[in-house]
Order: sequence, then C-alpha cells, then structure tokens
Amino acid sequence: MKIIREVAELERWASEARSAAKTIGLVPTMGALHEGHLSLVERARKENDAVVVSVFVNPTQFNNPTDLATYPRTEEADFRLLEQAGVDAVFAPTPEEVYSGGKDTHVYDLGPAAEVMEGPRRPGHFQGVAQIVSRLFRWTGADRGYFGEKDFQQIAVIRAMVKSEGIDIEIVACPIKRADDGLALSSRNALLSKEQRAVAPGIYSALNYGRAYSATHSVKATHDTVVERIDALPDCKTEYFEIVDGRTLQPVADWNDSDFIVGCITVQCGPVRLIDNITFRN
Ligand code: PAJ
Repeated sequence: MKIIREVAELERWASEARSAAKTIGLVPTMGALHEGHLSLVERARKENDAVVVSVFVNPTQFNNPTDLATYPRTEEADFRLLEQAGVDAVFAPTPEEVYSGGKDTHVYDLGPAAEVMEGPRRPGHFQGVAQIVSRLFRWTGADRGYFGEKDFQQIAVIRAMVKSEGIDIEIVACPIKRADDGLALSSRNALLSKEQRAVAPGIYSALNYGRAYSATHSVKATHDTVVERIDALPDCKTEYFEIVDGRTLQPVADWNDSDFIVGCITVQCGPVRLIDNITFRN
C-alpha cells in the first residue's frame, strides 16, 4: 500500500492507474477507522481495479473547535487496517497541503438538501465537506466515490455538488454498519463514557419502535413517540428528528406523500452528537 502525503503524488498515482486502464474507487474518510469505513472499502475493492482511501480530518467542515480538537486520530492503526483490507493507496495529507491555494472562497451550489437538518445547525459544514470532497474527486479522477448511508444527508448533498460542479463520478451509497447492540458505528462513539455508550443503543431501538408504530399512526405521532423515548434515556436529548422524502430530504406530513421516506435523527448524548436514520417506506 502506497502512503501518499502530497497532492502532486496523488495525481501522479491516479494518472498512472488510469493509463493502465484501471478503474479507480475512492473512499473519503476522516480516519479513526471502524467496520463502517471498512465496509465501504470492501465494496470499492469489489467494484474497481484500484482503491484509494483518504484519511484527513478536514478542518473546514468543523463548525465547533472543540469537536475538531477532540476528534479521534489513530493514523497508525488506520494504515494497518487499510493495508489488511487490500487498499492500493492511502492519501493522508496535512491541512496546509490540501488548502495550499489559500482559503476556498468558492460557494458550492448544494441545493435544497443542504438547507435542512444539519445545514442550519452546522453553518458552513456542508460547504467544508464540498471543499474537500470536490478536491478529492478532481485529484483522483475516480470513477466511483463510496459513502455511508449513516450520513444520509451528506450523500444527498454530495450528489447535488457533483451535479452543480459537473464532476463525472458515480456516487455509491452503502448501508449503515451497526454494533451488535444496534448503535450505528461512528468514530465519535469512542468519546462516549461507559454509561453513555450503554444507553446509546436506545436510539436505534426507538427508531425501530417508530417504524413499527408508523404502520398504524400518523407521521406526527410517530415523530413524537420516537423523540419521547429517546429523551427518556439518561444524558440523551434529541436535537431533531425529521421524517423526510428520501430523495429531496424535505419533510413529509403524511405517509402517502412519498414512496421513499426516511427518518433522520441527531441526538446529543453526553459530549457527542450521534447521527442515525431509519427507512420508513421504500
Ligand atoms: P467519516 O465520518 O470518517 O466517514 C467516512 C465515510 O464512512 C462516510 O461516507 C460515512 O458515511 C461512512 N460511515 C461512517 N460510519 C459508518 C457506518 N456506521 N456505516 C456505514 N458507513 C459509515 O463523513 C466523513 O468522514 C467526512 O464528512 C468526509 C466525507 C470524509 C469528508 O471529510
């Protein structure tokens, strides 16, 4: 596995792969890798000749300095996992290398999907994601980019970005990986206390309860029962639970409003914002 620190080297690696008629799969990550990330890598391995994974804690997408400072960094262990997973190259640059052209002042057109849920609550977050992801797409010229449905809104925003920027890449959405107790795997789970980690699976239980409840109850009643259950967990407070059209991410008022309906949730659990979602109709 080639460890790449510089953009020019990444571009060289990618152009060599392309001239050998290889298809390239790209898996962007911020490291502290777990089985969720590795499931993306595995899928990329199956569908492409060459796989490159980026490991970069992108400062421009953090709207909270404490979150950036405490974000787990485990580079050595990450590289070992990626090597074992059969990755061809890992791109692990410094922020200076990525943003050497200075501050990115381009405003990405991310459409209505970026205006809801995480959008207003994390100002600048999706612009920051677009800054790094568009660079990675361009530098690698990847055929396919792999993203997890855990960050359901992020996928919709990246699809909008690819369209508005005219980037030729297929976005592949991969299912959520969960711990045995149901908690969606996340690098930030490492920051939960033992007690918080023990109650956090209650989020997924509440979402599942909501899905069953939705067969006989309205969207609003389903919303309220899920929030009530989660807010009853010690140290947990629902920031939002939005039941939305799975394509546009705009709220639905009725189960008949769309054939694809997803409930997206963010819960503050102790020091960590936990993000999860469940499909209600598809
Ligand atoms: P990060 O949180 O490291 O996640 C990298 C990728 O792994 C994302 O596409 C995310 O949705 C996916 N992922 C995380 N947990 C997962 C799980 N439990 N199951 C399946 N997939 C999971 O998301 C980011 O980094 C950044 O915003 C990034 C896209 C890399 C841009 O900086």
